[in-house]
Amino acid sequence: MRRQRSQELWQRAVRSIVGGVNSPSRAFEAVGGAHPIFMRRAAGAYFWDVDGNRYIDYLGAYGALILGHAHPAVTEAIAKAAERGTVFGTPHEQEVVFAETLRAAIPSLEKVRLVNTGTEAVMSAIRLARGVTGRNKIVKFSGCYHGHSDPMLLDAGSGPATIGKEDSAGVPPGVAKDIIVLPYNDAAAVERFVRNLDEYGAADGSGHDVAAFLLEPVVGNFGIVEPVPGFLEAVHAAARQLGALTIYDEVITAFRFRYGAIQDALGFTPDITVLGKIIGGGLPIGAYGGPAAIMDYVAPVGPVYQSGTFAGNPVSVAAGLACLKALQEPGLYERLTAHGGALARGLRESAARHGVPVQVNQRAGALSVAFTEEPVRDVAAVDRSDTAMFARFFRRMLAAGINLAPSVYEAWFVTAAHTDEDIEYTLNAIEQVMATLHEGD
Ligand SMILES: Cc1ncc(COP(=O)(O)O)c(C=O)c1O
Repeated sequence: MRRQRSQELWQRAVRSIVGGVNSPSRAFEAVGGAHPIFMRRAAGAYFWDVDGNRYIDYLGAYGALILGHAHPAVTEAIAKAAERGTVFGTPHEQEVVFAETLRAAIPSLEKVRLVNTGTEAVMSAIRLARGVTGRNKIVKFSGCYHGHSDPMLLDAGSGPATIGKEDSAGVPPGVAKDIIVLPYNDAAAVERFVRNLDEYGAADGSGHDVAAFLLEPVVGNFGIVEPVPGFLEAVHAAARQLGALTIYDEVITAFRFRYGAIQDALGFTPDITVLGKIIGGGLPIGAYGGPAAIMDYVAPVGPVYQSGTFAGNPVSVAAGLACLKALQEPGLYERLTAHGGALARGLRESAARHGVPVQVNQRAGALSVAFTEEPVRDVAAVDRSDTAMFARFFRRMLAAGINLAPSVYEAWFVTAAHTDEDIEYTLNAIEQVMATLHEGD
């Protein structure tokens, strides 16, 4: 595969863009590749790079794409919206329709507020939880990524973990002291936390200071990890006991596995839900919402300030609406599940044939692969997996024309654009790569 033009662009990029990338998760440090590939064009399930090579894409823009690249209904909606104006700074009809569409799909959302990214939505949800409860501490779970706001950069999984920096410089200790990190999928740890609040420095004589428990109901940021039975129950019981709120970060999970949020399939109702990625149809967006009694704390109704020049952007909203409409096509999620299941089976079977230890976690069109014998139920299991083997797997898949995220912590995303032939092609590549995985470079 020729990569000369990518190499030239990389040499230019590192001179004028920090680290050559506009988001650290795009760097190839963790997978030992010489440099990331520069893409020129994308359509459906495919990327074409600047040297003319074609790739089947499972990065899915870190989960922002579920229909595939440049879906015709979405690009048409974007073009039409742009002709009507790219940013208004006033209310407009489509944002109302969009909010109604989200409400209809996710019963816990009585009211929503649109923002521009998942980071912003989580940041705002935390402020809201603090404003509602009058408390400061947020419980998050080890390895869970919730964007890059200061308090969320503690033990934050995929992005930071990939570049080997668990916590970020520049986060003041005062911020860190209000974040409590518990292990994911450990109901006993949650119960212990509630029993021994003072061990965490939370008891102050007047009670405790826990505003909210924040989590992904199914993890998407140290691979795809299901909650074990009893874990979500324990979190909700703890929140109830402490009078704290629950915040579900469904940036990855909403509309990923079904039309709607995963909370309803799992049978839990959080106080605040955070959305992003898919709901923007490939353009930047974020949202948070919940019952009116909570959301009405947000300005201009309530005292919790939050605003945005680009919030409710008409082009993002148009793309999101077109995407959500297309997702209602009958059979779409069944197809994603069939393709995701075929990949998971193929990965396990090829690995078994070649004596490669592998764990494949999969739900619908989302899956993750870690080279380990140990079931992956928390981030520690991914940390202990054979990351050198993952790096080889990644590089050889890329050479075979398959684009994965350059990190063992990131998921693969099948989109509605992937065909049976694409899956077949990928399974053949997997078989060939697994056969060589015990061989070093
Ligand atoms: C679960 C989750 N929350 C929040 C975010 C942050 O979203 P954004 O990158 O749009 O700021 C991400 C991004 O990967 C995410 O996966």
